Order: sequence, then structure tokens, then C-alpha cells
Amino acid sequence: MKRQILITGIILISTGLLVADGNIKGEAVKERNARMKWWSEARFGMFVHWGLYSIPAGQWGERKWTRGGVEWIQQRAGVPAEIYEKELVPKFKPKADFAKEWAQIAKSAGCRYLVFTTKHHEGFALHDSKLTTFDAKDACGRDLYKEIVDATKAEGLKVGAYHSIIDWHHPHAYAGFGLPTVKGAINEGRENSIYIDYLHGQVKEIMSSYGPIDIVWWDYSSKQCQGERWRAKELIAMVRKYQPQIVMNNRLYRSPEAGWPDKHDWLEGFSIGLQYGDFCTPEQKIPANGVQGVFWETCMTMNTSWGYNQHDHKWKSTSQLIQNLIDIVSKGGNYLLNIGPKADGSIPKESIERMEAIGKWMNINGEAIYGTTVSPYGKPKWGRYTKKPTKLYAHIFNWPQTAKLSVPIANLKVSKAYLLADKEQRALPMQHTETDLIISLPTEAPDSIASIVVIEHKKYPVEQGAEGDAVNCAP
Ligand code: GLC
Repeated sequence: MKRQILITGIILISTGLLVADGNIKGEAVKERNARMKWWSEARFGMFVHWGLYSIPAGQWGERKWTRGGVEWIQQRAGVPAEIYEKELVPKFKPKADFAKEWAQIAKSAGCRYLVFTTKHHEGFALHDSKLTTFDAKDACGRDLYKEIVDATKAEGLKVGAYHSIIDWHHPHAYAGFGLPTVKGAINEGRENSIYIDYLHGQVKEIMSSYGPIDIVWWDYSSKQCQGERWRAKELIAMVRKYQPQIVMNNRLYRSPEAGWPDKHDWLEGFSIGLQYGDFCTPEQKIPANGVQGVFWETCMTMNTSWGYNQHDHKWKSTSQLIQNLIDIVSKGGNYLLNIGPKADGSIPKESIERMEAIGKWMNINGEAIYGTTVSPYGKPKWGRYTKKPTKLYAHIFNWPQTAKLSVPIANLKVSKAYLLADKEQRALPMQHTETDLIISLPTEAPDSIASIVVIEHKKYPVEQGAEGDAVNCAP
């Protein structure tokens, strides 16, 4: 009997049917995948970094920053919390209806969700917090998170809350444990547990006052803050009590056993291992081969800053952004693309242009992005693949000069190939060789950034392993 239990246990663990301990205690992979379904099909989301830091926008006095996250300006310029607050709060005057503009831009770009910074490291709460006067309600008489949640839901998008664990404003937030802090902040007289109560309290406000919240995006627990520093398990349990279906990232908690990968910086560290939370978060990078066995999401800026920076003109091209999206999806991940609105809530024109161009592309090609997964055919020289059970999508970045596309799927029963941009879906001529399917293309690419050929085929033969290659599934 004992032996049988042991064997069953081994099978369950090795097939990933049980998830050990933590926030998802007792939740089977099947249930978790069901909870994660909308998220893993969505593939594309919009991140929004906006707070008091959007006012200085990369410049404090004479000092200017042209690169990197200027939502860190308080820390970068070493501004004490009282001065930061006194200087910026009176200037914070968001325009009416900014949230609708954000939600509309996200929707028309083809994003399926929006994640907003309810509080960044500066500590300013964008929701109406009863626990502090350092919040939007006290600064400008509005609950800005409510405006954002309502506008986002009105567009039919899922909505998330990014919430910072780091807090440079709260007098009891401990300055230390390896967390970056504002210069000169000392720990003497600080009672960290008071801050932790406050952190829990604000998260409770967010989770219990705005109806369904779909994602919680913690940021971030560092190397020295493993374990229960934030009373992480309790916090997670509380979030799940109010939002049982919520999807959670992995930046709140690292168990001491998880250690920290020596050879990786902290950004990469987020892409490795998933002790708690549902998905991991490679930042500003696309892992070469995706992240095997877990849900993952690459978050990325359009220039080099998360918060608005008037001095950062290093914008990525639309072509880069679209090809990034495809690259990520072809490896089983999601793309969370950031905008940093100006202080009044308006979106920089460079971001609008890019989001609109992505939207134009998604209108035609979204079918090859949403609900697709990794294909078993790797990374071809000419672009990427995504797939659905009976369709293979060839995303062509470099249109072949020969106007012939070779696809190594001799063993698939293909019924038809056509251009996704062709509304009539006219069949492209095909030829089989021993190893490849050769598709004849028109001489001109329908889209200079990425054109898609749809290859319709019979279901993958199971023995090929293609149906089992759920790289984006939970461990
Ligand atoms: C980092 C930065 C932060 C940014 C975040 C986005 O943790 O501290 O400024 O919000 O990454 O992933």
C-alpha cells in the first residue's frame, strides 16, 4: 500500500499534477491552467508606469537623465521623501478622461490586458487610500485607479495592478535588506512591521474595492529579502480571498531554498524558477529559447525608461516591437509593452504612433498571435512559427528572394496554404519534397515587417510529440 502511494506520488509530482505548497496549495495543474487560460491566450498586454515621477520626467534641477528608468528619479537624485512630496504633489493635475485614452489605445493596439502601477517605489498611491494622505485622492481629489479600472473594463480588457513592495516614502519601510533606497535613508527608529501592515492594508484596499482585478504584478523582492520578509504567504492568501481567479507574477517571494542564480543578474533571475506566483517576468529581454515549463511574460519599454522621460529619444522601431511580439509568442510567452504617460496623463506621441501601427498589424494578423503556442519546428532563418492544433503560422520577417518558402513538415498532412493578409484565402501552390513543404509565394511581401502564411493541416500526430509540447504550461 505504502509503495503504491509512493509510486502514485512520484508520478503525480513528475507529471506536474500537484503543485507544491504556497499560494496555490492544493491547486492541480489542470485547475491552474484553467485559471491561466485567458492570460496565456491573450499574449499581448499594455503596461503603464505613471506617478509623481512623471512630473520631473527625467530632470531634477540641473540634473538630467537620458537613459534608464526615471521612475527612479527620487533615488537617482537622492531626494528625501518630504522634499519629493512637497515639490511634486501640488503639481499633480491629471486631465479628465486620460484613462479612456489609455484604454482605447490599448484596445486598438490589440492588447488584451492593461497593468497599471497603483504604487511605484516612490510610495505614492494612485488609488484612494484611507491609510495615507500620500495618495491621489488627497493630492487631486480623484480615485485614479478607479478611473483606470472602469475605463479598461469598459473596453473589454482585463485589468491588473502593479504594486511596489519597495517604498521610499513610508517612514517605517526599512531601508535595507539589499533593497535600493533613497540615499541617506537610515533605519534607526524604523519599525518595519508597521510598514508591512501598511503594505498589506493598501493591497487589501485595491483587491477589495474595485470589483474583479485580473492580475497582481508585484515588484520586487530582492536577494536578501527571501523568505517571509513581506509575510508573503499571508499577503497572497489575502489577495486570493478577494480575487480567487487572479493571476500573479513571481516578484513577491523567493523561498530561501530557491536561492539566487549566481551567474545571472537580478533581471534574469526573475526569469528563472517559479516558487510562488503564476508566471515569471524576464525584464527588457527575450529569453533565447523561452522559459521552459512555466508561464512567462517579457515586460519591455518602448524607449529605455518605464516612467515618462522627456530626454529619452531612444525609441524602438515599430518593426522591432512587432517582431518582438512574434518572437515572444513563438516561444510561448506574453509581451507586456510599456507606455509612460506624461504628468497630465497624456501619452507621448511616439508611443501612440507605435501602438497604432501595432494595432494595424494586429487587425490583419492577430489570428496568428492570440491563442497560439510554440511550434515544434524551431526558429527558421526567415522568421518565426506559431501554431494552433490544425494551423501552423509562418511569420516571415525576411521575404525569400526566390519567392519560395521551405517548411520542414513533410510528415504533416497539409490541406492548404494561404496568406493571412488575403481575405479570399486563395491557395498558394505547394510542392512536397522528402523533407520539406515548398510554398510558392507572390514576389512582393504583403507586409514589410512580418507577413504570415497560414498552413492548414490535419492534427499533429501524437507520437511526434507536438501536442505535448505545451512549453507555456505550468510545471
Ligand atoms: C524594475 C524597476 C522598475 C520597473 C520594473 C518593471 O523592477 O525597479 O522601475 O517598474 O522593473 O518591470
